[in-house]
Amino acid sequence: PADVAGLLLSRIRDVPDYPRPGIVFKDITPLLADPEAFSALTDELAAFCRRHGATKVVGLEARGFILAAPVAVRAGLGFVPVRKAGKLPGATLSQAYELEYGSAEIEIHAEDLTADDRVLVIDDVLATGGTAEASLRLIRRSGARVAGLAVLMELKFLDGRERVLPELDGAPYQALITV
Ligand code: PRP
Ligand code: MG
Repeated sequence: PADVAGLLLSRIRDVPDYPRPGIVFKDITPLLADPEAFSALTDELAAFCRRHGATKVVGLEARGFILAAPVAVRAGLGFVPVRKAGKLPGATLSQAYELEYGSAEIEIHAEDLTADDRVLVIDDVLATGGTAEASLRLIRRSGARVAGLAVLMELKFLDGRERVLPELDGAPYQALITV
């Protein structure tokens, strides 16, 4: 709803020239510090999970963890972390992806998802879409199905949506705020 989006947007702080000159960083810490806004965000995303029949919630390290874990609890679902490479002790699936400068790698515990799972992926920001795209690939490779992708905020000018839509393959995508 528009009122929730307005509340959320009002709690995101623009930080100019961070982390580099010319970049405007979207700081979600004011939202996290406001229980009304954080709770409204959690409710919205938990409703998205229910609507699309998710059985698991995946959060993307690090900021995605903060948003996805309370959503999983509120929706009554298990939480599965996608971590940056080298942090998970068990048998992992890993996926490399390109960054603006260089590349990165993320991992998931292979045993955390099964072919019966429908997985809802949550992150804070969709920028170029590289992180979300790689996480969707990981989920497909695990044998689970993708129930959808939800982000707090999409940075429209970077066209990340175009990058993730093919990987979603018809599964729903929601950005609560588009800037
Ligand atoms: C940020 C953000 C998203 C990602 C979006 O994560 O939290 O996960 O970038 O960018 P993309 O769409 O271009 O991939 P980052 O890894 O920078 O930091 P974090 O560990 O604080 O989440
Ligand atoms: Mg991140």
